[in-house]
Amino acid sequence: MKLSRPILAVLCVVLCWSAAGSALDRSSGADYHARRAALAGKLNGGVAVLFAGEEPLLDFMPYRQDSDFYYLTGWNEPGAALLIEAPAAAQGTRPARAYREVMFLPTRNLRMELFTGRKLDAASPDAPRLTGVDEVRPMSDLAVILNQIAAGDRTMMYRVWSEPETEQAKSLLAWTAATLGMEHAPPMKDVRGAVAELRAVKDADELMLLRKAADASVQAQLAMMKAVHPGQRERTVAGIILEKLMENGCERPSYAPIVGSGEKSTELHYAENSQTMQAGDVVVVDAAGEYSMYASDITRTLPVNGHFSARQREIYDIVLGAQRAAMEAFVAGKSRINDPQHKYPDSLDTIAWNYMNAHGKDLHGDPLGKYFIHGIGHSVGIDVHDPYDYSQPIQKGMVFTIEPGIYIPEEKLGVRIEDVFYVKQDGTLECLTCALPKEAEAVEKEMRSR
Ligand code: GLY
Ligand code: MN
Ligand code: MN
Repeated sequence: MKLSRPILAVLCVVLCWSAAGSALDRSSGADYHARRAALAGKLNGGVAVLFAGEEPLLDFMPYRQDSDFYYLTGWNEPGAALLIEAPAAAQGTRPARAYREVMFLPTRNLRMELFTGRKLDAASPDAPRLTGVDEVRPMSDLAVILNQIAAGDRTMMYRVWSEPETEQAKSLLAWTAATLGMEHAPPMKDVRGAVAELRAVKDADELMLLRKAADASVQAQLAMMKAVHPGQRERTVAGIILEKLMENGCERPSYAPIVGSGEKSTELHYAENSQTMQAGDVVVVDAAGEYSMYASDITRTLPVNGHFSARQREIYDIVLGAQRAAMEAFVAGKSRINDPQHKYPDSLDTIAWNYMNAHGKDLHGDPLGKYFIHGIGHSVGIDVHDPYDYSQPIQKGMVFTIEPGIYIPEEKLGVRIEDVFYVKQDGTLECLTCALPKEAEAVEKEMRSR
């Protein structure tokens, strides 16, 4: 079939846009809608305003959507805003309000689009279908609509849930207060805490993406295990991991890969990866990917020359035993994590710490618990450290890490073992990353299989 040039041009614009728009696996529109409705239920009859991420100042730097905005919309373009108005029954002179959701899209910048590609604006007839949000308006209507909501019921200005730290939210509230003749904008409520509560428990689509992130990360770590050997550069190994992550569908690593050998195995956030690995050392490799905005997080520790020394093996097995002890002690709805001060006697941190203190000694005969210098784990989701109130126990439906470590600088010996777990509806744990070898012999065998 031969198409005329104008038709081809139109078709290209439509297809190019939808190809860009489908670069990530999205949840269903119904899922995002359900998340927005759930947020409305947490607003005490108020209104929430959230802002999308901004294009980086240097347009060749990477852009990543704001995590809360993505969770609620699946929308991956910069500069948008979302307003959610909670439904409320009539009260006194105040009329009843229905649930309302509006996505505000920025004005297109045709010059910038030469660099960034086409962006959707509210004038596009497809905008409601493509965004999946009931109403789509130009960004210039955001202040107008907030003014209308508050003009109809002034108490709404005291029930605005937004992002108190952002300039956009502060400006919007100040301007709206001015349009209503108020001297100051009342303090806004922090919407991030409310969204964090929702993000903690993963739905089926989120779990699917977390599995894909985990699977890709396992593949990358397997490639890493074949690449570690004396004389190999840490940075080369980091590069091999990045290649495998992207080959397996990840858009980026979920954090800067850590490949730390020798004394750097004891440095928690070492990501310089600038050394050449030496026989006789161990290397801690903490690296994983992000698949369609969902993160994974894996650490393995390897002997650079393919064989743990007796001392390395002793410490390795204690860390592995501590991870197993924490897994076995887990009780959904009861166990806490991220308790590095060991305030809770039954937190998974305390379980792992007790295990370390009961097994092995340092060179001075002291117990090993003092070398476990970080939390046992954290929630994982759209962010590798997903927000969570760690004073609360881990619930069914959550995804989190168990990652004990012992770091003894005096011995140039650091060991961390980290996996990601899903709490099933029956309360038991499913490990999403345990297809990757972690018993000492299994790691050595995998290294030999290159
Ligand atoms: N990779 C970051 C962490 O383990 O928390
Ligand atoms: Mn972690
Ligand atoms: Mn990690």
